[in-house]
Amino acid sequence: MSVIRRLPETLVNRIAAGEVVERPAAALKELVENAIDAGSITIAVRLGEGGLGLIEVTDDGCGMTREDMALALERHATSKLPDEAIELVATLGFRGEALPSIASVARFTMESRVRGADGGWQVVVDHGQQVADGPAALPPGTRIRVEDLFGKIPARRKFLRSPRSEYAACLDVVRRLAMARPEVGFTLEHDGRRVLAVQGGQSLAARVAQLVARELAEDGVAIELERGPVRLTGVAGLPTFNRGVADHQYLFVNGRPVKDRLLVGAVRGAYADMLARDRHAVLALFLDLPPEEVDVNVHPAKTEVRFRDPAFVRGFIVSGLRHALEGAGQRSAQAPAGPAMANWQAEPISREPAPALGSLFTRNYAPTAVRDAGQAWRGYEASVLAPAAKAEMADAAPEPAVSHPLGVARGQVANTYIVAEAEDGLVIVDQHAAHERLVLERLKAAGAQGAMAASQALLIPEVVELDEPDCDRVAEAAPQLAAHGLALERFGPDAMLIRAVPAALAGGDVQALVRDIADDLAQNGAALLLEERLDHVLATMACHGSVRAGRPLSVAEMNALLREMERTPRSGQCNHGRPTWVKLALEDVEKLFGRR
Ligand SMILES: Nc1ncnc2c1ncn2[C@@H]1O[C@H](COP(=O)(O)OP(=O)(O)OP(=O)(O)O)[C@@H](O)[C@H]1O
Ligand SMILES: [Mg+2]
Repeated sequence: MSVIRRLPETLVNRIAAGEVVERPAAALKELVENAIDAGSITIAVRLGEGGLGLIEVTDDGCGMTREDMALALERHATSKLPDEAIELVATLGFRGEALPSIASVARFTMESRVRGADGGWQVVVDHGQQVADGPAALPPGTRIRVEDLFGKIPARRKFLRSPRSEYAACLDVVRRLAMARPEVGFTLEHDGRRVLAVQGGQSLAARVAQLVARELAEDGVAIELERGPVRLTGVAGLPTFNRGVADHQYLFVNGRPVKDRLLVGAVRGAYADMLARDRHAVLALFLDLPPEEVDVNVHPAKTEVRFRDPAFVRGFIVSGLRHALEGAGQRSAQAPAGPAMANWQAEPISREPAPALGSLFTRNYAPTAVRDAGQAWRGYEASVLAPAAKAEMADAAPEPAVSHPLGVARGQVANTYIVAEAEDGLVIVDQHAAHERLVLERLKAAGAQGAMAASQALLIPEVVELDEPDCDRVAEAAPQLAAHGLALERFGPDAMLIRAVPAALAGGDVQALVRDIADDLAQNGAALLLEERLDHVLATMACHGSVRAGRPLSVAEMNALLREMERTPRSGQCNHGRPTWVKLALEDVEKLFGRR
């Protein structure tokens, strides 16, 4: 017979610690949150060996009396829920379990002094057992030191990663909390080296720029939206300013850093047709809503939340971000980088110019694109002298470059890039990327107006064989596809009949198109809102209908493409987040030739 018994307090705390402090960064997060809740003006963090050896947080907040310190180490003792109204919690902490949990799995030293008191007090707890207490000398505030984390719990210690990756996680924690509280100053020292310092009293924008990426100020759009009591603020990177990991997305709900799946999904949805699937937007978003609309008490580390109306929140973020990015028009993150320019000028004159010149265009490119730009430039040098290119350039010569932001086409390079002259610089357009984007925007615009997109009936309807579940999904989407000019109907259990295709895609491989759409629906179907699902499908269509790289274009065609890009929202990036065009300012050209 088993006997039911109450577990001793230390064991209870240790079990709770399994959830609250699974690694140094989690303990650090709790300590810094406490320091913020204490009303501190500056918070200093010191780490040793990625937090495995030492985590120390010193604040100048309200401090604790000797009695409070004893209480703070008891489970479920908190000063933060005065009305017992957990729904209305405004502090970062509210559970009263962080300190006892941490103290049960490390050597824990807490010193504190309230303002106006003669001195402070300290308590030392070693893996759950109090081992010392007594007076302490420190300025008003609190200093907590956590050493030898999981030192007596080898099973847990085994799961820790290298000091390097634990440090990275700690830095991320400080960064996110510092972004959530721009009024507080923060410093972070790791193994004796100062790695982060931000002044208190900063504006949110300044703090974000300092902590995320300076480029975001230039290559991002400010977000400032309100719907009733719900607000979304922050800054969202242009799609061309993307990264290979999602770590550079900073999301906050009511001032609390979160890694919430719903929010992450909404961000992905908003950028869906502007980024390749393996690229990620860079942004900092602050969602503020009435506390009763969100439950923060659903995750032990409080990094996930639950919304009362998730569909509203998701829709608000998706449409808000899209709208803001649309407002950025055909901007593309692509201004030549200052440092690259400086490098170039430092080069001895006799060196081969192509690579450095390439890098001028490439601040926001993936490494492959860096090479592409360099190659494009070398291609340019070669084909400027080629007879065909010369002839085209002569044709184009009379038109002045004024008044068109993307300039007037002067030639085509490698049958892939359009070279244009704008009033203030040299523009190079990737014709396939640009055209794909334009086709997509055309398809979307047709759909948005509710008008039937121009459609071309097939003389002989085509049959596409697909799995039954694929057919189900495509058939379900058929009404929306029809609105975009793609007329399909079910043809038995595992085939679809195609009767008409969008005029923009006439002559393409219809079979491949429908198969890609089916894949798209399978991959994203249930997860995405209808509107986003359609955008995916349209992006797939657009790719099928675009001018391929490698097709020669006439000057008139090139100019038509440039003019359409100027008119089209979001034409600055292709459907995968690469820029569709880059510009080298005339003054930068002059610098390259030593004229400035
Ligand atoms: N740096 C600090 N300055 C002043 N008081 C503090 C500090 N850290 C902790 N406290 C006090 O100790 C109490 C317990 O802290 P603890 O982190 O364990 O719980 P909590 O913050 O209330 O809730 P949670 O478990 O959600 O973090 C707090 O409610 C607070 O009153
Ligand atoms: Mg706390």
